[in-house]
Amino acid sequence: MENKILTTSAGAPIADDNSSISAGPDGPLTFDNFQLFEKLAHFNRERIPERVVHARGTGAYGTFTLSRSLTEYTRASFLQTEGQQTDVFLRFSTVGGGQDSSDYARDPRGFAVKFYTREGNFDLVGNNTPVFFLNDPLKFPDFVHSQKKNPKTNLPDAARMYEFWANHPQSLHQITILMSDRGIPASWRHMNGYGSHTYGIWNSSGERFWVKWHFKCDQGIRCLSDEEAATLPPFGAQQDLVEAIERKEFPGWSVKLQILSEDEAKVFPVNPFDLTKVWPHELAPLQDIGRLTLNRNVDNYFEETEQATFAPSNFVPGICASPDKMLQARLLAYQDAQRYRVGVNHNRLPVNAPRCPMHHYQRDGAMAAMNDPAAAGNSQGSNVNFFPNDHSDSPRPDTSYAPPPLPLLENAWVKPYHQDDEDYYHQAGDLYRIMSDAGKTRLAQTIAAGLSQATLSVQERMLGYFDKADSDYADRIRMALIALK
Ligand code: HEM
Repeated sequence: MENKILTTSAGAPIADDNSSISAGPDGPLTFDNFQLFEKLAHFNRERIPERVVHARGTGAYGTFTLSRSLTEYTRASFLQTEGQQTDVFLRFSTVGGGQDSSDYARDPRGFAVKFYTREGNFDLVGNNTPVFFLNDPLKFPDFVHSQKKNPKTNLPDAARMYEFWANHPQSLHQITILMSDRGIPASWRHMNGYGSHTYGIWNSSGERFWVKWHFKCDQGIRCLSDEEAATLPPFGAQQDLVEAIERKEFPGWSVKLQILSEDEAKVFPVNPFDLTKVWPHELAPLQDIGRLTLNRNVDNYFEETEQATFAPSNFVPGICASPDKMLQARLLAYQDAQRYRVGVNHNRLPVNAPRCPMHHYQRDGAMAAMNDPAAAGNSQGSNVNFFPNDHSDSPRPDTSYAPPPLPLLENAWVKPYHQDDEDYYHQAGDLYRIMSDAGKTRLAQTIAAGLSQATLSVQERMLGYFDKADSDYADRIRMALIALK
């Protein structure tokens, strides 16, 4: 095999990479140490900001195989023909911790899937839970501040978490999932994924439907107790996934949709666009649509997983947003975060670049690559850079891709959610009631362990919410709090 010669980043061969140039063996370094300066200067710039949430994660490539044509519901190119395959990249994550925090936190897990379709990338940036703590995006930064570390001690602080929750009863359903036996997944391979939000899909006749995405784990759900989680190495879930894929034990998820017509949604007994609520399966049954498998690890964690940018605004023709206010805010937040975190041309990086032609009039910016191999054929070259123009071969919009318009309701300007008039308790109670007796007790003990650190006022308000979900739920927490005294 031909010996590779070490070079500078500009390609010039290097004679010695062990010694800096000095004025004599013990003298000071000289100014012609450009190789040393290049090495140190690049090293100083190796880090980019970590994600403000979901900083700790693991990514892998795979395939989505459609088992049933969805032409009657959507024109999305990857949902048309039974057996059709689409490449995907999936990143799992915890939410609150930093880049090197434990994989085994009691925390929701991110489940972000990028489908590389023929008509652009569709990103489903979901979690391992079907609901979320909030239904209004205005609360998101406050929520995240309260759940991350205490600003003074830089330590986790359960009192602050519960103080936020005591002021937000809409979190009760998600708290019940998080503090339950399902709160610490044993690995990335043993948990479900959910799109969580309600999304729109629309067919070639312009008919729209509302859907929720579910990814049911084929490996079976496995979770850990706090005690088990504490004994495991922090990066165990990453190791588990990487090693399973290397062994060719490819993890899979059965992909299902709940589908409602617009008319069904109008009379649905729960607000179908409230992210704190699930759609009862008996009213909107899960429909099998395919299977997702992961079959290839990344070659370079930083280039692929760290620089991956998932954006809920990455829709494709046939898929659109819904009136879910959380989703709507997310349509702006992610691309904004990514311009800061990765750079304005992040969509040109191989992991993010579409696997289909892209033609637009955005130009320049840091790292605008002419010969980017991932965007082969997509170099902006000398193409016209303004629109409209008189060049017959230049890219132009096509009205046939317009999603059906969303009618505004008469009370469009009224804030739809009020803490006092929404039922945030019923579904949390339903979930509590299907748990085993031992599971209920463990749930109460886990909640009491954190709640006991909060003020009495916070404890009382929280007990009031648990009581509204199920009086037994509140009683068990009361008992667990007493036992801790
Ligand atoms: C208004 C509400 C929300 C806001 C403003 C928000 C904001 C963000 C931001 C800024 C990031 C970092 C993006 C990056 O740097 O690449 C992020 C990551 C993420 N968010 Fe959210 N988020 C919200 C709600 C949600 C919800 C409801 C879910 C799940 C249902 C979710 C799932 C995720 C996931 C999975 C990631 C990590 C994506 C990856 O692996 O790169 N977020 N979020």
